Amino acid sequence: MRASMKFLLTVLGTGMIVVTVFTAWLIIAFVRAPLDTVGEVDFDRPLAIPPLAESSVEGGVRTFDLRLQSGTSDLGSEEPTSTWGVNGDLLGPTLRAERGETVAMRVRNDLPEISTLHWHGMHLPAEMDGGPHQVIEPGDLWSPTWTIDQPAATLWYHPHLHGATADHVYRGLAGMFIVDDPVEAELDLPRDYGVDDLPLIVQDKNLDEDGRLDMGESFFGSAGIIGETVFVNGTRGAYADVTTEAVRLRLLNGSNARPFSFTFADGRDFDLIGTDGGLLEAPAAMDALQLSPGERAEIIVRFEPGERIVLRSEPSDTGNTFAGGQDRLDIMEFRAADRLDPSPAVPDQLVEVPRLDPEDASEERSFRLAGSTINGREMDMQRVDEVVEAGAAEIWTVTNDDGGSHNFHVHDVQFQVLDIDGREPPPHLRGWKDTVWLRPSEPVRLIMRFGHHTSTEWPYMFHCHTLRHEDDGMMGQFMVVEPGQSPTGIPHAGEHAHDH
Ligand code: C2O
Ligand code: CU
Ligand code: CU
Repeated sequence: MRASMKFLLTVLGTGMIVVTVFTAWLIIAFVRAPLDTVGEVDFDRPLAIPPLAESSVEGGVRTFDLRLQSGTSDLGSEEPTSTWGVNGDLLGPTLRAERGETVAMRVRNDLPEISTLHWHGMHLPAEMDGGPHQVIEPGDLWSPTWTIDQPAATLWYHPHLHGATADHVYRGLAGMFIVDDPVEAELDLPRDYGVDDLPLIVQDKNLDEDGRLDMGESFFGSAGIIGETVFVNGTRGAYADVTTEAVRLRLLNGSNARPFSFTFADGRDFDLIGTDGGLLEAPAAMDALQLSPGERAEIIVRFEPGERIVLRSEPSDTGNTFAGGQDRLDIMEFRAADRLDPSPAVPDQLVEVPRLDPEDASEERSFRLAGSTINGREMDMQRVDEVVEAGAAEIWTVTNDDGGSHNFHVHDVQFQVLDIDGREPPPHLRGWKDTVWLRPSEPVRLIMRFGHHTSTEWPYMFHCHTLRHEDDGMMGQFMVVEPGQSPTGIPHAGEHAHDH
């Protein structure tokens, strides 16, 4: 009797230990502990500044030659790592053109596989957009051309091959595209490229034991690659020398999935002057700015002579714990000279941003993102999801329906945020935007006016810019047509989708 009781207790005890160990394992395995690299990063490499792309002007057309190529880069490990770039081994040059100019791109694909090059944030004909239908075979040249017709802004470019966007961007294909205009040029703003006007392409990557790019996806969640090392313009542990009292930073979250909440180590205020599609009406002072993948912002920050200050990312207010949003990361360091050249005060007024009026909207559409679908459907290269009339104003209500790490990007147009779950948008969402974060279950109402580039055969995309989600199918297509027209079918649609 005693013996059997003892045996029973032993069995129960062992059972409990097994259950406890198993539960602990489950928790460790599925709840990723936030990463904290604050104070751990050595800032010992000068920040690389992407060169301004060369171009030639003939007959009023500005032509850029771009070559997608593979190469090797020093990512801070002992051995060089294989990476992809545009006109170089990693990332690409900064393109720059004026509003009103006609640009011509000569994009040559010297990669071992097909790709595309998309001009994110650009208003242009769908056939020139570089989306999943404008594939460039290895060895081929693709030559889109269009006239720049939008306000000064910080845009970017990256591949958009369906099913392979995450892979191609992560390997290093991305660059900035700065649009200039006379209104911006009149303002007293820092604009000496590489001196007091710095492009900052912020990306997270993982390196394996041999220092090579690790393509492995995060075990936690479905967002794809969450990197533990932050690169700015391809530089790991970057520092930038500052020689002026104020510096304009053109921030681009070029990561596959990770949101950043940019702050300075001492919590100083900075002025937000621009968002995705251009300058704001007036600067907005803030001490933290969240950007999800694909979003850009222009900020102006002031420095004291001789100081060193770290730009970091604090936990983001994303409404969920995915994609590394809860991490604290040191990003880069600014080193101010002992004597700084004077900088102008930030102007009180910047540009006019005419508010789009919901009364003018002729159509309302709603988009629900969940799993790898929008409105219950995965991307189909042959299906046109929405048909829009040229010149129409529309309201799009977009909802994150499954709580995942989703944002929403629309090609060709810049939109304004009307409200978020019925609330007024915060200052950083009051300007022109083309990509917006979606907190779980909080509908975001966007208003946009479509332009006059019409086509009945070439669509534009709308999608989640978490690149793994986009590749998995969280994307749809819309066409802009003349009133009364309807799509005639997409040439070669579907031939080039990349299977993953
Ligand atoms: Cu930045 Cu459809 O892309
Ligand atoms: Cu885009
Ligand atoms: Cu998503």
